[in-house]
Amino acid sequence: MDYSHFKTILLLCIFFFFCFPQAKGNHRWNTYTVVIYNGLPFDSPKLSIHCYSADDDLGYHDLAAYENFSWKFKFNQWLWARTRFHCQFWWDKKSKSFVVFNDYDHCILYSPIPTTNYCQWTVQEDGFWLTNYRGDTYRVFEW
Ligand SMILES: *[C@@H]1O[C@H](CO)[C@@H](O)[C@H](O)[C@H]1NC(C)=O
Repeated sequence: MDYSHFKTILLLCIFFFFCFPQAKGNHRWNTYTVVIYNGLPFDSPKLSIHCYSADDDLGYHDLAAYENFSWKFKFNQWLWARTRFHCQFWWDKKSKSFVVFNDYDHCILYSPIPTTNYCQWTVQEDGFWLTNYRGDTYRVFEW
């Protein structure tokens, strides 16, 4: 590799660290928590979930009303390669599937949630509500 290639690669690295917003760390905690909470009515059909990332399959779980399923993981990012968890949900005759975590500041990219390392997804009849550790709550998806 000659010197001009080295310079190009160095400039690319500088570009990604300073210009790529996800590579900048303002609020990076050590540990992140995701909770799936069943907030569906007590007498309704059970909720089934399946959550996974590229590295971890967290398995299939049935949740009764007011039960939750949660997991923790460590901050781990190299440039734009980030931890990304996806969940599938089944309830009654409905199903839904979406990314529950892919952003170290706001749980998911472009979510309105203020900076947090706690991502609670509450499943209700009217959709999926995201709550941070302060209790800020937004409905992000409908069934
Ligand atoms: C989730 O369930 C556990 C065990 O039942 C409980 O200790 C915990 O407080 C629950 N978390 C939430 C957010 O409801």
